[in-house]
Amino acid sequence: MVSAPANNLKSPLRWAGSKRKLLPILERMWKSSDNKYIEAFAGSACLFFHLRPQEAVLNDANRELVAAYEVLAKHPLLLHETLQDMAPSSETYYRIRSADISGMDKFEAATRFFYLNRYCFNGIYRTNKDGAFNVPYASYKTGGVPGRDHWCKASDALNRAKLFSLDFEQVVLDNVGAGDFVYLDPPYAVSNRRVFIQYSANEFGLDDLRRLRSVMDYVDRAGATFVVSYALSKETATLTRGWHSMRTLAQRNIAGFSHHRRKAVEVLITNDAARLRQRNQ
Ligand SMILES: C[S@@+](CC[C@H](N)C(=O)[O-])C[C@H]1O[C@@H](n2cnc3c(N)ncnc32)[C@H](O)[C@@H]1O
Repeated sequence: MVSAPANNLKSPLRWAGSKRKLLPILERMWKSSDNKYIEAFAGSACLFFHLRPQEAVLNDANRELVAAYEVLAKHPLLLHETLQDMAPSSETYYRIRSADISGMDKFEAATRFFYLNRYCFNGIYRTNKDGAFNVPYASYKTGGVPGRDHWCKASDALNRAKLFSLDFEQVVLDNVGAGDFVYLDPPYAVSNRRVFIQYSANEFGLDDLRRLRSVMDYVDRAGATFVVSYALSKETATLTRGWHSMRTLAQRNIAGFSHHRRKAVEVLITNDAARLRQRNQ
């Protein structure tokens, strides 16, 4: 497979739990000769945007997020212009946050999603029990709306991907084939209180972790490569047993608060030992 030149395109989204800090390691675990790139817990998809593979499958259980990616793929310039015209103020933020989304078309909903993501506290996506986004305003100092060129490049990358909003297991089982590269970056399982943080709407439990383990085994049997990133915890053994793994330090916001920022140990797990050696070179 021929890949587009990797030139460090940043994700257009801010995302709590993003693995941006691990990119120098993760990028070396992917090979340009890999077939499809599959990311089943995409979030801000920072590795996907960094690599911009020719053929990809991107999935996240968050429907609003995936719908926003679909709009970005189709209408990057209109989206950029519209976002630029929206004031980065607290007043505008709370007006947009409280807007009724039930009557919005897909473009309006995506614009709202990107706007709130840009100016919300720490890139957290959290909803109340009725599904309403309830993260407070951060400030206008969140880097502002990315430039026009950035939106166009992100759109090109997304146009080469199939987008899904499904459970990770279904999307991997339906799409994986020999030679593919599967990146799995799940939320931290709920029982792991020390690191469980931002995903109140998408709680990931121990059963999900066991399902993830089965999916890893399936990917291996399919002749594909998986790379999983997961916080070191007592649950990690479920994922590492029988596979190759290494530990690395990653900065993480505990509970989403910057004063609780600390280095946590992240474990990378793969079925291809050579990829771990590769990243050590
Ligand atoms: C740790 S974040 C991924 C961060 C991503 N690697 C990045 O760099 O931004 C985990 C993501 O998994 C999604 N998610 C939670 N449960 C899921 C499920 N059962 N299937 C698919 N996605 C899920 C969440 O919506 C969240 O975006």
